[in-house]
Amino acid sequence: MLIGAKKGSPLILGVGENEYILASDAAAIVEHTTQAIYLADNEMVTVGPDGFHTKTIGNVTVGKDLQQIEFSLEQIELGSFQHHMLKEIFEQPKSLITCMGGRIDRRNHGIRLGGIASYLRDLTRTRRLIMAACGTAFHAGLVGEFLFEQLARIPAETEYASEFRYRNPIIEDRTVVIAISQSGETLDTLAAVEEAKERGARVLGVVNVVGSSIARATDAGIYLHAGPEIGVASTKAFTAQVAVLTMLAIELGRRKHISSDEADRHIEELSQIPDKISTILTQSDQIKEIAAANINKDNWLFLGRGFNYPVALEGALKLKEISYIHAEGLPAAEMKHGPIALIADGMPAVFIATAGPQYDKIMGNIAEVRARGGKIIAIATEGDQNIAQHADHLITIPDAPEFLQPMLAVVPLQLLAYHAAVLRGQDVDKPRNLAKSVTVE
Ligand code: G6P
Repeated sequence: MLIGAKKGSPLILGVGENEYILASDAAAIVEHTTQAIYLADNEMVTVGPDGFHTKTIGNVTVGKDLQQIEFSLEQIELGSFQHHMLKEIFEQPKSLITCMGGRIDRRNHGIRLGGIASYLRDLTRTRRLIMAACGTAFHAGLVGEFLFEQLARIPAETEYASEFRYRNPIIEDRTVVIAISQSGETLDTLAAVEEAKERGARVLGVVNVVGSSIARATDAGIYLHAGPEIGVASTKAFTAQVAVLTMLAIELGRRKHISSDEADRHIEELSQIPDKISTILTQSDQIKEIAAANINKDNWLFLGRGFNYPVALEGALKLKEISYIHAEGLPAAEMKHGPIALIADGMPAVFIATAGPQYDKIMGNIAEVRARGGKIIAIATEGDQNIAQHADHLITIPDAPEFLQPMLAVVPLQLLAYHAAVLRGQDVDKPRNLAKSVTVE
């Protein structure tokens, strides 16, 4: 007899032909079966020669439906790629099309978000929006702050889920909490959801894994539909999280104050993002050369402003988690308050210096770093004639309105981190000391 019991961390029972498998994640069993039972907290399953039986820990029988695992083996196989991370970086045009596809509703000049449809009217009255998340999802939330404030004019803030839950958070009337999580199982984020619910907030989920704990614990939510993400370093989930937050912000803005014409323009620009990412991906070899030229440097800086400041944080996180190179991400103007002291000969400084209202300011920051001997790797907008003379290395991305640039600017940074890690001989998909789902505090 085999017994599995669930409390806290996820547990599923795969049901195959004359075989049963207990696992924490559907990806582990999909090779054997696509039928599974998802256990809830305080439930257990006993498996014996005559099949399985589900009950509570208190021994009360509970009926459980067999569920179909939604992804295929092909989705989790490497195909022609050397690593899952690279495959997932290259999947982004497709994963974003799947994420946005059925949701962009041109005929009605809007965006259809089925999972939260009945809450939308209420959401337009939101007084304060708090996003809670960890790691890469936290960085997506930081982009979300800008999106909700600029497009929907709703005050928004993003908190580390682990901090939110312990800070005795103030939840007032019409405060909405959005939990952002790829796995839907991150314990800190799940605990933040419980805390917010207990304090009376409406809690929404922006989650990738269907049926995961956070998806179930929230009042409603928007799935990413990015497909399974296997690489520990999150890539396609980030762009899908930002895409979902963008769609929500546009839709709330449209219902509040944006004209149909303006909403149409935003939606049109948004739907061009997958193609624009495809053109960035063609520069992978050139980005590899940039990584190779700086591979012996042990300290890197990532700098951006406005919408691209969270992208700088994400670029630094990607580099450190898989290549073990120390990197710091900062809002570029903060340099002068301390970190500029770090700049020494040849230190790589990656600047997101794309076209937008802060372009001149960031060019000023580039000059400051260059004057002190830093090596400039610039992410700039195609057609920028000026920047080449100020940078040691240049990567270009297609032009896009400022609020959509994070989904583009992050892609070269993902590739830079990937190539740096491979060049350093690291195990990209299984970096040391890290886990894909962190189900402990
Ligand atoms: C882990 C992963 C990160 C991820 C973070 C949050 O640390 O290694 O890549 O960003 O958890 O995970 P979630 O599943 O909640 O997005």
